[in-house]
Amino acid sequence: MMPELEIGPLRIRPMTKEDIAEVTRLDQESFSLPWPERAFENELFNQMARAWVVDQPANPEIGLIGSLILWLIIDEAHIATIAVDKNFRNQGIAKVLLAHALLSVREEGAICSLLEVRRSNTAALGLYQSLGFYQVGTRKGYYSDNHEDALLMNLDDLDSVDWQAILHLYSQRHGGG
Ligand SMILES: CC(C)(COP(=O)(O)OP(=O)(O)OC[C@H]1O[C@@H](n2cnc3c(N)ncnc32)[C@H](O)[C@@H]1OP(=O)(O)O)[C@@H](O)C(=O)NCCC(=O)NCCS
Repeated sequence: MMPELEIGPLRIRPMTKEDIAEVTRLDQESFSLPWPERAFENELFNQMARAWVVDQPANPEIGLIGSLILWLIIDEAHIATIAVDKNFRNQGIAKVLLAHALLSVREEGAICSLLEVRRSNTAALGLYQSLGFYQVGTRKGYYSDNHEDALLMNLDDLDSVDWQAILHLYSQRHGGG
């Protein structure tokens, strides 16, 4: 796993067991079908999982403002979950978090990335489309709470995105790092 990254006011670092309560809180605020705390604990032992969190070292009282889990399966990076605290959305944080995590697994041999997203999740669709993910299929009625469809999205070639440019732009706009 790549080391942590300090970028602007943010620090992106591997998730630890001390983060689990906060990650669970963030997840509950962000999803209508949140994962149980136990699921996050299990991910820390999952050999395929790469789990990251975002915080602000200068403002520890804020707690975690983002989290991401992906599963590296051979050469595929499956985005399992990503969330940014409501008060910090639309500032490019999900994009830098994904950039750092995907650059990291690219170093480990990942070639492509894939995910599932609710059809109505315009923020997430905006995020993924801005990175070049495109729809490859649909799972009808996939989500158990409202029977909403899941869209399956792929990014075929991780090298088709200039991840460093995304990080560079964020750091220019938010004061170095
Ligand atoms: C989806 C989510 C992680 C995005 O986090 P974020 O930090 O606000 O996203 P960013 O600011 O990095 O935005 C990245 C891109 O997505 C687009 N985007 C973000 N929010 C958007 C919105 N509400 N509507 C349309 N596009 C949006 C932005 O235009 C941006 O593209 P750009 O850089 O080309 O302008 C956040 O909204 C969230 O936590 N949602 C709840 C949990 C969730 O749905 N996770 C995804 C599950 S698949």
